[in-house]
Amino acid sequence: PVLVVDFGAQYAQLIARRVREANVYSEVVPHTTTVDEIAAKNPAAVVLSGGPSSVYAEGAPQLDPRLFDLDVPVFGICYGFQAMAQALGGTVAHTGTREYGRTELSVDGGILHGGLPTLQPVWMSHGDAVTDAPAGFEVTGTSAGAPVAAFENRERKLAGVQYHPEVLHSPHGQQVLSRFLHDIAGIGPTWTAANIAESLIGKVRDQIGDGHAICGLSGGVDSAVAAALVQRAIGDRLTCVFVDHGLLRAGEREQVQQDFVSATGAKLVTADAVEVFLRELEGVSDPEEKRKIIGREFIRSFEGAAAQVVAENGAGVDFLVQGTLYPDVVESGGGAGTANIKSHHNVGGLPDDLEFELVEPLRLLFKDEVRAVGRELGLPEEIVGRQPFPGPGLAIRIVGEVNQHRLDLLRQADAIAREELTSAGLDKQIWQCPVVLLADVRSVGVQGDGRTYGHPIVLRPVSSEDAMTADWTRLPYEVLERISTRITNEVAEVNRVVLDVTSKPPGTIEWE
Ligand code: XMP
Repeated sequence: PVLVVDFGAQYAQLIARRVREANVYSEVVPHTTTVDEIAAKNPAAVVLSGGPSSVYAEGAPQLDPRLFDLDVPVFGICYGFQAMAQALGGTVAHTGTREYGRTELSVDGGILHGGLPTLQPVWMSHGDAVTDAPAGFEVTGTSAGAPVAAFENRERKLAGVQYHPEVLHSPHGQQVLSRFLHDIAGIGPTWTAANIAESLIGKVRDQIGDGHAICGLSGGVDSAVAAALVQRAIGDRLTCVFVDHGLLRAGEREQVQQDFVSATGAKLVTADAVEVFLRELEGVSDPEEKRKIIGREFIRSFEGAAAQVVAENGAGVDFLVQGTLYPDVVESGGGAGTANIKSHHNVGGLPDDLEFELVEPLRLLFKDEVRAVGRELGLPEEIVGRQPFPGPGLAIRIVGEVNQHRLDLLRQADAIAREELTSAGLDKQIWQCPVVLLADVRSVGVQGDGRTYGHPIVLRPVSSEDAMTADWTRLPYEVLERISTRITNEVAEVNRVVLDVTSKPPGTIEWE
């Protein structure tokens, strides 16, 4: 792999993603990883990420110069660039000029920047600067605050830049990173969806051997792709379990039952738990209480279905498949290794008396890669391109008590909104658009010839990159108008459609 050494800034994961976008496999490792540990991983290259603003800062992570004795290609970025310069005998100094944000870079030849515009915008974030490049390095970029803003040494396969090539504000950044990987380090572009799928299927086969596995399907992208990979690896020895809690949107159960099964040929068991969920939710309007009940009942249903699969399967079921992704793995501090608390939460936690070994085929992948692998495996766009939908489903989109009637109203309104957004071609532009029924609110309207006293529906279209923050999406008025007209005409008891124009923070994406 290409190892991205994380010096503690928020960019390491992004750099790892960009390396993979250049079709080269990468992993993030903490800066505490020793040179011996790095050598043991036999890396194709090492990328040193950004970090604190100064290599002289107190407690700044140090770079062990023995890294350069390994004869491995190294690319330094920002702090990593300065640390590299210092370790190789260059000079890093307080120049007095700080550069933060958009800066103009002037480039002159070299492999990294050759043929690119001689003046180009880049994203900087540094106080100190490299003033002298180490011996043997060609300086190919400068900026007002960084006398040496890019350098390279082709023979030793070492290079670096002061700016952040991984962010979109550096428009040529991806190209520069690719040139390092392909042209300086000489690494082939082999990390493709087809190769990823093939290698993951092989790994799953090795792990499961001739054992049996089960997988909870949520209707979301990750569990669908994980299940499809395992199905390819072990065929009918995988059973998928889908819990229908009655809080799904129109067509979702069918999508799992038909689209997923027909694309994969996987064996599917559906746990019909609608009545249980509705009974347990009766009279409950507090959001946290709703979530707790749903979490608890979900585990019970899954447990029941799993126990049944185990009972029917004489040979026993030893493996549980989960769709844990790489960001979860990095955030919980592990690279290799087995189960952690977080991945258990993905199926809502499992009881102690059902013991499974976890199979997590996606634990080294980013979301985009999961989608690409899903497409490679022939899953339909309706599944791989799906927008996020919360586990507790429509229950947390009904403000007030949840019952069958209210769920039906909300399902209708939601289906209309989705249909219109899709036919207006807006699916890619929005992250998701919760549709919320204010079941405890009534307002006066006039519909047909008479006065009505109905409920409002809230549209909550948001744009986001990771759901941590979000902005409300400026949907075209014509589309809003069509959705509003159709909902008030077609959904009984709804006489008003309102638009949520709150960002996150302060609002969350969901209403509960
Ligand atoms: P909030 O409302 O916290 O939502 O801004 C952020 C993202 O998470 C989704 N969400 C959930 N997903 N189980 C899930 O699997 C949940 O309990 C849950 N609650 C919120 C929400 O749809 C949004 O994408």
